[in-house]
Amino acid sequence: MKYIKFSNCNIKVKIEESVREDDVFVIQSGYPATNEGLVELLIIIDALKYASASRITAVMPYFPYVRSDKKDEPRISITARLVTDLLETAGANRILTMDLHSPQIGGFSRIPSDQLHIRPVLCNYIQQKKLDDLVIAAPDVGSAKRAEGFARRLDVPLAIMDKRRYHDDEKAEIINIIGDVKGKNCFIVDDEVSTGGSMIESIRILKEFGAQDLYAGCTHGILCGDAAVNIEKSDIKEFITTNTIDQGRFADFTKLRVLNVGKMFSDAIAAIHMGTSISKLFM
Ligand code: R5P
Repeated sequence: MKYIKFSNCNIKVKIEESVREDDVFVIQSGYPATNEGLVELLIIIDALKYASASRITAVMPYFPYVRSDKKDEPRISITARLVTDLLETAGANRILTMDLHSPQIGGFSRIPSDQLHIRPVLCNYIQQKKLDDLVIAAPDVGSAKRAEGFARRLDVPLAIMDKRRYHDDEKAEIINIIGDVKGKNCFIVDDEVSTGGSMIESIRILKEFGAQDLYAGCTHGILCGDAAVNIEKSDIKEFITTNTIDQGRFADFTKLRVLNVGKMFSDAIAAIHMGTSISKLFM
């Protein structure tokens, strides 16, 4: 294995050594430098293609624009699909990522994509906490299937919150809960926390319905604006995320726990390189 340097003098990007017939993995997460990171990734892939790499895999722990996956209002871009088009055009042969907002994004491209899941890592963490009367809570109907996977693996009940948000930039409102949370310890699971609006609203309604202790976990801690401050001040006991996005920026966020998914990515990279099963990583 070799790590390849590239130089960028703002005029041209140069791969510093030969990659001819190599199996190359380029790692770039989609946040916080979303647009700059994406363009840099595309240019590196283009340079690798012209340097005759045999296969190029774009490794994107957080997939940029992942929530832009459908035409749910007039005059919008389906940017997650555009990103896959751009990767393919640049010369990527595969995509490796984690917990896409909706699984069908994996089918946007004509090149294979592998999607890792936080579930085994987060379930191990939850089990170690040995919480009595545990309920897994889904913050909205769209995340119910994902949350059900956690509930099934942990063999605990599921509660689903009825969240309404009519536009992406609008405040989320939860009006009801399907399932029994009274007196229960609840663990909210989500794919990402961005403004924190959904999470704060979930905490409010779970408390209103009589939940005991609250915990939350998400794969991608975007945590923009006041999200971290608001979660820190909330009734939550612990907020767990992963390092798909760098979390080094939150020194005062005492309720934050960051799970390392680096081993899962390195195992997946090894499996792709060796041509062995990736789904085995989720057993
Ligand atoms: C929504 O469909 C997602 O699963 C998350 O709940 C959402 O992205 C969180 O966004 P925010 O933190 O801005 O409420």
